[in-house]
Amino acid sequence: MGYPHPSHAGETPVLSQYFGDREAITLDGWRKRGGYNGLQKALSMSPSEIVDVVKASGLRGRGGAGFPTGIKWSFMKPGDGKPHYLCCNADESEPGTFKDREIMRWTPHALVEGCAIGAYAIGAETAYIYIRGEFTEPLARMRAAVREAYDAGILGKNAMGTGKRIDIVIHKGAGAYICGEETAMMNSIEGRRGNPRIKPPFPAVSGVFAQPTTINNVETLVAVPHIIVRGAEWYKGLSLSSPKSTGSKLFSVCGNIAKPGNYEVTLGFSFKDFLYDLCGGPLPGRKFKAIIPGGISVPIQTMEEAEATKMDYEGFVEQGSMLGSGGVIVFDDQQNMVKQIARAARFFAHESCAQCTQCREGTAWTTKIMERIRDGEGTAEDLDTLFSIADNMTGKTICVLSDSCAVPVVSGINKFRSEFEALIKKPTFHPVTAAVA
Ligand SMILES: Cc1cc2nc3c(=O)[nH]c(=O)nc-3n(C[C@H](O)[C@H](O)[C@H](O)COP(=O)(O)O)c2cc1C
Repeated sequence: MGYPHPSHAGETPVLSQYFGDREAITLDGWRKRGGYNGLQKALSMSPSEIVDVVKASGLRGRGGAGFPTGIKWSFMKPGDGKPHYLCCNADESEPGTFKDREIMRWTPHALVEGCAIGAYAIGAETAYIYIRGEFTEPLARMRAAVREAYDAGILGKNAMGTGKRIDIVIHKGAGAYICGEETAMMNSIEGRRGNPRIKPPFPAVSGVFAQPTTINNVETLVAVPHIIVRGAEWYKGLSLSSPKSTGSKLFSVCGNIAKPGNYEVTLGFSFKDFLYDLCGGPLPGRKFKAIIPGGISVPIQTMEEAEATKMDYEGFVEQGSMLGSGGVIVFDDQQNMVKQIARAARFFAHESCAQCTQCREGTAWTTKIMERIRDGEGTAEDLDTLFSIADNMTGKTICVLSDSCAVPVVSGINKFRSEFEALIKKPTFHPVTAAVA
């Protein structure tokens, strides 16, 4: 994507409006662009009023699951006498997804502001921002923005002169995919090994340091100041489709496509127009073959499915996949799907925390079988074995990393079976058996 933004007709740059604008990185520049008006307004409202506005806006979590944000916030019971915490999930390790890091690079104060509003709304005085270990530049920008916000009295024990306390702590991860799973992230923040926790108890009951906690994705939180300033109706009006999918969404596009990059569109946008017009279509002389539309954990779409998709939570499900994190991975006719799926399986096997047997063994065996099929060493039974392993990996573990590994394998075999069969060795010819027959 060319900077500065916006650069493509058809986009709706709300969150990405200042991508590429160096002045927006600093506090002064951010304030000149209307920064912190949302926080100022929010601090004049009651926490429950903020939760109601966010509920009415229809905002849903942008981290993958799409849970309604206002409803999640309403699980935090005011006046329970316990410290509450907000954790901002800036781990962004889902392959194909690279939007949160851009938000932090170009508009770090937008995230400070979103976290401060979110913390106040759920009755928390402390917000953690958990940033993936490899994100050197986003980390430096976030640290500088938090420092500027403290120096200006935006954060601290008298946030914006209101007498309310809002602290933000940046926590650098160590580069583990599993630490993006919310309960593993909480363990990591506490200094423990990043293993997911069994739910219940849910984080709103017992989260970080065993206290009520809300976890939200970066993109979810940066939408909040806009909703507070412009109102729930404005946000709902940004939808091109159902009232269940409102607002704009960043999609990261990579793979075999003419113009990869981050694009922000209103939910309900046509995926066909998105791929062929906004993103420039296939590379010269090539044809699109398949799409993974929401990060590597969601089912693969055929082009027929992709071209019939409306880009919203319901639209991707209707066409055999999920919106997920919005990481669009494009494969063209030069790609072998078996090779691509084997690579995905290896990723999950590497990143499994190994706590659950089905995941530890399932991801490893899936990888082994996928790689032998890829290398022309597969057998006719291998596809059934892969289905059976996938069945044992789905819905049976503490977190869904295991399910996520099964997803591309099952959808890949179902939709591109002929590519698997072409690589599987033909049965050996036995002359004696043949003569008897
Ligand atoms: C293995 C795994 C990895 C995840 N990685 C991320 C991540 O990098 N960023 C993120 O926001 N959510 C990630 N999630 C989802 C989080 O657990 C959680 O649902 C999300 O942060 C909630 O925020 P939201 O409601 O604003 O979407 C991951 C989930 C799983 C199972």
